[in-house]
Amino acid sequence: MFLQNKKIVIIGGSSGIGFAIAETALEAGAKVIIASRSKEKLAEAKARLNHQVETFSVDTRDLSQLKAFFAQIGSFDHLQITASEISFGEFSSLPMEDAKAMFESKFWGPYQAAQAALPYLSPQGSITFYSGAYSQLPKTPGASVAAAINSAVEGLGRALAVELAPIRVNTITPGIVDTELFTTLGFDASQRQTLFEAVTQSQVIKRPAMPKEISQTALYLMSNTYSTGNTLFVDGGLTFR
Ligand SMILES: NC(=O)c1ccc[n+]([C@@H]2O[C@H](COP(=O)([O-])OP(=O)(O)OC[C@H]3O[C@@H](n4cnc5c(N)ncnc54)[C@H](OP(=O)(O)O)[C@@H]3O)[C@@H](O)[C@H]2O)c1
Repeated sequence: MFLQNKKIVIIGGSSGIGFAIAETALEAGAKVIIASRSKEKLAEAKARLNHQVETFSVDTRDLSQLKAFFAQIGSFDHLQITASEISFGEFSSLPMEDAKAMFESKFWGPYQAAQAALPYLSPQGSITFYSGAYSQLPKTPGASVAAAINSAVEGLGRALAVELAPIRVNTITPGIVDTELFTTLGFDASQRQTLFEAVTQSQVIKRPAMPKEISQTALYLMSNTYSTGNTLFVDGGLTFR
């Protein structure tokens, strides 16, 4: 009801959580635009969404691409930024370029996407960032950069909620979610299963989230006009004490 005919932009919408947000927002009657880098992935996602979305190719690491993208779209209501690529690596040996590349993708990308969107974003609208529960509880070695970026994204969300009001700004912090991310990271089916079991064994809910379980939270944050400055954990009790 709240999202009927609202225009929602999902950067990262060709895969995983972003794709699930597109599906859920369409079900709620929204007009949906999905963006990511790969034209092939966008075309595939559009077909899976029965051609009900508009697609745009954009790389969040490139400010001029972002500016051109938002100028083409014009005014809109809600921005979801799930786009990122992240990997893991032992602190002692991780090359600085790799650590910086992760920040370019998962911190500075969403940062400049939000900034480039501002001239077009409705004052009644919202921005949702995505961090990850490793901000609180990095469960495996090799997660120092991921933990630092996730904490930085959460801090950015809180600061922008103050600075950009009345635009609402929130962050969703997933635990582990069964998405294409793990294929991108090079996991085969059995390695993915081993990782899921290792991470979820200490959770209250002992399985990874399905993308839809995250997209329901995205819809809540776009719809609820009193929610801002939140970091919402949707992690099956991973960080629950
Ligand atoms: N899955 C998990 O277990 C998990 C856990 C905690 C946090 N998260 C966070 O949740 C968010 C979504 O994750 P996900 O699992 O949905 O990932 P995913 O399935 O790998 O999807 C990532 C999406 O972002 C796009 N993308 C990547 N880099 C981009 C860039 N520079 N510019 C534009 N688009 C870009 C990808 O498409 P292209 O390749 O076409 O660009 C794809 O559509 C991420 O921030 C992730 O860190 C995920």
